[in-house]
Amino acid sequence: MTCICGLTFLPSLGFREACIEMESGLITRIFRIPPPSSSCMRADIVLPGFVDLHVHMRGLNQRQKGEWRTESLAALRGGIAVVADMPNNIPKVDSREILEEKLKEANRESYVDFLLYTAYPYLPEDDYVAGIKLYPEDLMNNLNEVFRKASKMGKIVVVHAESPLVLKEADIPDKVEDHWIAHPELAEEIAVRRVLWMAERHSSRVRIAHATLPITVSLVQEAKLRGVDASVEVTPHHILFSREDAGKLGSLAKVNPPLRPKELVNELKSMLWAGMIDFLATDHAPHGLEEKSRPYEEMPSGIPWLDVMAPFLMTLIADGKLPAEVIDMYSSKPAMHMGLGRGSIAVGNSADLVILKKRRWRVHGDELYTRAKSTAIEGMELGWQVERVFLRGVLAYDEGPVVEEGFGVPAIKRKTRR
Ligand code: DOR
Ligand code: ZN
Repeated sequence: MTCICGLTFLPSLGFREACIEMESGLITRIFRIPPPSSSCMRADIVLPGFVDLHVHMRGLNQRQKGEWRTESLAALRGGIAVVADMPNNIPKVDSREILEEKLKEANRESYVDFLLYTAYPYLPEDDYVAGIKLYPEDLMNNLNEVFRKASKMGKIVVVHAESPLVLKEADIPDKVEDHWIAHPELAEEIAVRRVLWMAERHSSRVRIAHATLPITVSLVQEAKLRGVDASVEVTPHHILFSREDAGKLGSLAKVNPPLRPKELVNELKSMLWAGMIDFLATDHAPHGLEEKSRPYEEMPSGIPWLDVMAPFLMTLIADGKLPAEVIDMYSSKPAMHMGLGRGSIAVGNSADLVILKKRRWRVHGDELYTRAKSTAIEGMELGWQVERVFLRGVLAYDEGPVVEEGFGVPAIKRKTRR
């Protein structure tokens, strides 16, 4: 039996002094004060292990960008217990053969637990398959069949909501500061309206990935009120940066969907403060420094996040820049969404605990585990550092990994207790 005491993020209560006992991989007791005659270890902060619904770990034929061993180590250091990995690999994960190839890599290399999405139109029953991901080019198809199938299977349809027709009609800019020109707001709104309509007609679960617009959140809210099983995620970059930050971000400002104007970002953020957004998900997207330094048209899109998540979120919460509820949006809520018995510090749940130490440090891309070796918060001072991470009750990280690669397993479905 292991026991930890500290300022703990508890479901419904927020931060409280508490002691947590774990045994055989599960949280077995939670005390208000240390249990008598116990030898509990002391922690500054205890958070639930995060569940990131949207990451790109790469591997397969893109190991130069990132592989399960590097990116899952980044996840572990960031306090993430479970990652759900997107299928836009080379090759795409649109067949049994490629899915099994990816599963093999993840099983062999991952430090954290995982779920996998498949690519259109492939959607098998397997438990470790979180759902199907639709990309803009997939939206060229008649989507009735895939929504019908997902509905029958109870799987989630996750959508990168940008209408390919609008994207095709948009102008092509020649510098990263103007990247937004190629991705009109209209593209998102049209795609969101369409897939919500699909989900409503076929009674399917739909999740809008990386929402960038207030109208997206409003449309999802309205659909929920009509009884549609719809939800929406936001990334850290779409709520913290606007297109006016592109100069400062350099090549990391090239991301899809793009960064929006400041007024819209502020409105989206106030919707987050108002509890209108379901999930925080990073869209961690590693690309090499060399690729990112190419001219605008040739540089790939995406921002890496995983390494910094727990200290970054704690720092923003402590500074009043984000509500403490973002922890729920990145742990208990996504866990519940996926039917996992984890993501909140509650008796009976998996003992996934992130221990933070109060210690100031500056973020530098070249010191991170991600193969991207870059960060959108280069040079930022954070107030906490991840000291230890327990995964399924096992000490997996102690100022560095203390389990072997391959410790991660497919995340299994179980009801979450709150
Ligand atoms: O910026 C992005 N990067 N948007 C996507 O949709 C894909 C992602 C990636 O795979 O790098
Ligand atoms: Zn993505």
